[in-house]
Amino acid sequence: MNQLDIEPLHDDFGARVNGIAISGDLSDRDVTLIRDAIDTYSFLCFPGQDMTDEKQLAFTRLLGEAEAEHVTFGSTGKVTYFGTVGNVQDDGSKRDNSHAVTRHQTGNQLWHSDSSFREVPSFVSILHAYEVPGEGGATEFASMRAGYARLAGDLRETIEPLHVIHDYVFSRSQVAPVNPNHAASLPPVMHRLVRGNPANGLKNFYIGSHARSIPGWSGIDSRHLLDDLLQRATRPQDIFAHRWRAGDTVIWDNRCMLHRGAGYDAGRWRRRMRQTRVVGREKGVIPG
Ligand SMILES: [Fe+2]
Repeated sequence: MNQLDIEPLHDDFGARVNGIAISGDLSDRDVTLIRDAIDTYSFLCFPGQDMTDEKQLAFTRLLGEAEAEHVTFGSTGKVTYFGTVGNVQDDGSKRDNSHAVTRHQTGNQLWHSDSSFREVPSFVSILHAYEVPGEGGATEFASMRAGYARLAGDLRETIEPLHVIHDYVFSRSQVAPVNPNHAASLPPVMHRLVRGNPANGLKNFYIGSHARSIPGWSGIDSRHLLDDLLQRATRPQDIFAHRWRAGDTVIWDNRCMLHRGAGYDAGRWRRRMRQTRVVGREKGVIPG
């Protein structure tokens, strides 16, 4: 393949990519084209994929090191590479709205970047849809790169030298209790607030629900800045809502994208998606 068949989805980011089957058998050239498209578009949807866990993990590894899924690892010490998103368990049964796992997943309805709370946050998430609700259950995306590009010069200068503490327990305990072993496995971590893409030099701020505070700033000033930046990146016109179809495989660039689940009635519908992530290259600092 010389180039991807690309259909842009939003002015700021996003593309649908037709005519390519995602698996571990892709050529080096195809992988390079997909990597370039991730750097350019930040969000890619590959519709109509005949996916399995084996194919998804093999493809994930073509993009880099597969990230150990943190809920299982933090709670039990076991390494797995898949997160199941939705309300369908591995045995095919369905959890309803009141189930603890369903409640825990409502944290995904806040704007966030996956794994921003890890010492080495993720590069991309890869999410494949096997079963989708007949109503609701979209995932919304917005670009922190586009949000950064819209900032006035003086605000860019203000935020350039700053760092941010990302803290999973801070964000997730707002919606559901966090298992103590899991909490202990994820100490707060400090990342640079402004990051750049090494391939094209484009900058973005790096925030989301796990972003707790700015070191050296008061709590209230931290929240004002972080909330202001979030608002600037997620105005209605900045958002692309991906309405899933079974067979969609979606990749997004966690280095510069925010996303959130739009919610659905877990008592009424089945939703089953499988997610893998690729480890990023930029390492944060765990203070103290
Ligand atoms: Fe997420």
